[in-house]
Amino acid sequence: MPGLDGKIALVTGAGGMRGVGRATVMKLAGQGADIVLSDVHREAADLPPAEVRNEWGGIDTVSEEVQALGRRTLPIYCDLSDPAQIERMVEQTISEFGRIDILVNNARAIIGKDKVPVTELDKEVWDHFLSINTTAVFLCTKFVARHMIDAGNGGRIINIASNAGKQASANGAAYSASKFAVIGLTQASAMDLAPYNITVNAVCPGPINTDRMSYWERDQAQERGITQEEFRGQIVENSAQGTPLGRIAEAQDVANMVAFLAGEDASFITGQAYNVNGGQLFH
Ligand SMILES: NC(=O)c1ccc[n+]([C@@H]2O[C@H](COP(=O)([O-])OP(=O)(O)OC[C@H]3O[C@@H](n4cnc5c(N)ncnc54)[C@H](O)[C@@H]3O)[C@@H](O)[C@H]2O)c1
Repeated sequence: MPGLDGKIALVTGAGGMRGVGRATVMKLAGQGADIVLSDVHREAADLPPAEVRNEWGGIDTVSEEVQALGRRTLPIYCDLSDPAQIERMVEQTISEFGRIDILVNNARAIIGKDKVPVTELDKEVWDHFLSINTTAVFLCTKFVARHMIDAGNGGRIINIASNAGKQASANGAAYSASKFAVIGLTQASAMDLAPYNITVNAVCPGPINTDRMSYWERDQAQERGITQEEFRGQIVENSAQGTPLGRIAEAQDVANMVAFLAGEDASFITGQAYNVNGGQLFH
């Protein structure tokens, strides 16, 4: 019997064609979980070029893929900058599936506008990053954990942080602050929820070969007269060279760690922040 048979998992940021969210959803569903998939509606200008070209259907398409595995799904559009929408998403999940066993906080603010020195960083950009990358993780944890406690079956909360949540770099103030905060939130909520057998852990990937939208990459490509995808290819190649294991992470590498933390073998692990980075960073 698959390890997550009968479990209900809620995954945010699940609609990207090559994102960690989709890989995670497919991995958890492959192990038997039913899946609530959440994402925000994005304009074409905010989508990676390949998603526009392929007329990618976001969480609706991923939902069909999960159903093809024989699992139940519930796609929910939710803008994580709005606390009321987060509360509604959790309530909708409970009224449809009755409970939530696994929460994966995977979504993040679209990157790029944050990639400036701290002296040039707009407060609106800072606020947006903290709102999606940190406050929404707190609110999803708060609302979902209340139901987990009431149900009395324990639970798993897995927050996708980053290398940048342990080691900042230049032009990364908003992103790093938001991810450092996720690790602090992970530790504190692990303590608060331990009495209810709810574990809370973080996963800290290094660079991943996702097709994420980045305004910074789009602008850099334009300046160089190449396509956004060509510029992205250069980043992937450089990243492989700077990684001891000689390649960039695939979304699947991160999904594998999430599935481990969601499964029975991780039942005595909580408050931890696991690196998935090919040896780039050791603490
Ligand atoms: N891609 C990388 O190189 C990398 C490296 C380290 C850590 N991570 C982390 O891994 C996770 C997944 O990364 P990815 O590259 O697959 O993600 P991504 O950049 O493609 O975005 C994740 C999802 O968040 C959603 N999102 C954006 N704004 C939202 C909003 N307002 N409300 C709801 N959802 C919203 C997007 O629609 C998208 O589906 C993120 O937490 C990211 O910080 C990624």
